[in-house]
Amino acid sequence: MDTNISFTLKVWRQNGPQAKGHFDTFEMKDIPGDTSFLEMLDILNEQLIEAGKEPFVFDHDCREGICGMCSLYINGHPHGPAQGATTCQLYMRRFHDGDVITVEPWRSAAFPVIKDCMVDRSAFDKIIAAGGYTSVRTGQAQDANAILISKEAADEAMDCATCIGCGACVAACKNGSAMLFVSSKVSQLALLPQGRPEAARRAKAMVAKMEELGFGNCTNTRACEAECPKNESIANIARLNREFIKAKLAD
Ligand code: FES
Repeated sequence: MDTNISFTLKVWRQNGPQAKGHFDTFEMKDIPGDTSFLEMLDILNEQLIEAGKEPFVFDHDCREGICGMCSLYINGHPHGPAQGATTCQLYMRRFHDGDVITVEPWRSAAFPVIKDCMVDRSAFDKIIAAGGYTSVRTGQAQDANAILISKEAADEAMDCATCIGCGACVAACKNGSAMLFVSSKVSQLALLPQGRPEAARRAKAMVAKMEELGFGNCTNTRACEAECPKNESIANIARLNREFIKAKLAD
């Protein structure tokens, strides 16, 4: 049975990318355990608005683990303490009466703060625009069905495609590396025959864009894999490295 909890909530407030930030502290009372984390923040904002204060800014959209917008760093973990779940899939029953809950934005040079805990993740869009697509003609649906793909390759490509581009991998990494994101996006196409014709160009272009945008290098700490809400594997990073080296050698 769900019980209500009361706890101390510390949230990061920052007016813009160059502004100095600080924590605001709130005492949250009698929050039902079946309240989602974002609903709890909605309650906070209703209280702030009623008191004539500025609401706390955070990102969200689908609220069902699909869009990757809910980018909150909670008690030292991207998306909080639940494994394989986004912030919007986190419920207050995970916490205890009397807890101190600290909420911060993704901290990475490549993700500047827009306001409070909303960050600009358009760097990911730029990496996708550099090559995370296929432009070859694949024909009609029946043509796609005529291309045989092994069950293993189809399953693996689908696992890679579950990356929602939330940026938790970057936030978790001490180097601010985007390798798990980029490698998942490269892998989902490299594993399928439709993605092969442009595989070399794609790997080179996406890695170059990632480096240009200021993401750090991967040093295999595996923090990204541990914190990814979609359980993406660092085997994808090994695959990206192979794709990239192959493409460079072919040059
Ligand atoms: S709001 Fe869409 S994944 Fe959380």
